[in-house]
Amino acid sequence: MTQPPAGRGVRIVGTGSSVPDQTLSNADLEKILDTSDEWIQQRTGIKTRRVVDKAAGGGTIGLACNSLASAVANTQTDPKDLELVICASVTQEMHCPSAACRAAHHVGATNAAAFDLGAACSGFVYGLNIADTLLRQGRYKKIAVIGSDAMSTVLDYSERSVSILFGDASGAVILESVEDPSLGCIYQSMGADASNWQCLYLPTRQVDVPEVDKDNPIALGNLRMNGREVFKFAVKKFLAVIEDAVEQSGVNIDDISQLICHQSNLRIIESAREKLGLEKERVYVNIDRVGNSSAGSIPLCLDEMNQAGKIKKGEKVLFVAFGGGLTWASSLWQL
Ligand code: UT7
Repeated sequence: MTQPPAGRGVRIVGTGSSVPDQTLSNADLEKILDTSDEWIQQRTGIKTRRVVDKAAGGGTIGLACNSLASAVANTQTDPKDLELVICASVTQEMHCPSAACRAAHHVGATNAAAFDLGAACSGFVYGLNIADTLLRQGRYKKIAVIGSDAMSTVLDYSERSVSILFGDASGAVILESVEDPSLGCIYQSMGADASNWQCLYLPTRQVDVPEVDKDNPIALGNLRMNGREVFKFAVKKFLAVIEDAVEQSGVNIDDISQLICHQSNLRIIESAREKLGLEKERVYVNIDRVGNSSAGSIPLCLDEMNQAGKIKKGEKVLFVAFGGGLTWASSLWQL
């Protein structure tokens, strides 16, 4: 659904992020799986990834707390000014309270409402779109959106086709309502199609394991992915979502300074970049260092780019994501 910008505008006040200290390199995976550094790099572009120390209590909630704390500190935001905290995730350790509640409490955001949002790898961009809409209406003045996933906690490390792809990360952005309506999200799209949900799912009950996997079930609580199917969907959808954003917004692709996309697989990102004829400098990539961290991927990119001075006031940036559901989302911002 699209609405032209109305009412107030939205400004990105600042960003933060958190990744675990512990690394899991391709060489580490070679020791426990029938795989190779060469295969992983060729098929995914990943060299290493970060993983939480689960035994020491590391996980999604801790990453979410740390990334929000980092965004609050980086922006010198008074946490009491936050009115809403949204956390996108598929790996929360607890359904109640939400990870957003825990993160809000962690930073002392005592005046904030808080909820989690589940749209898999598209979750953070869904969150951005929702937050922008609420801020434009003027009902909210300051909202934090977090994306946080500890994918290593839902992986079966004897399953080489899935476990090599993912890592753990969290990022957060603080958004503020401003008078100028030309600032903020100038075009957004969100979509979902569950007709092929079986190609990416995280079951907690046997009854939900689809027929196609009944003879080869995965342990409950672990992610199951038909990589080839998701790959086909992602390549097609990624391009379609970008083309839709450009066409519907009327913004020339050359006027978009940065594409900030879900770090799904380097081949997927490169395929879209090449088809669109974009220079490498305009498509941020960190999957080689951190792997695919689901909802944490885009806000981590955003924070790294922000800290490195790669996004500037006056520029346009396009966020694009797709993932389990299957879901997809875009968000075109005037900074
Ligand atoms: O962020 C959420 C959305 N997820 C995605 O966007 C993921 C999209 N999919 C992918 O990134 C890719 O499908 C994978 C990286 C997961 C897999 O790469 P692929 O090129 O699609 O490999 P494949 O599953 O088609 O397997 C090709 C071959 C198979 O061997 P045969 O049948 O050709 O002999 C696999 O058994 O590679 C084998 N293989 C591996 N070999 C070494 C599968 N995984 C591995 C591995 N190491 N880790």
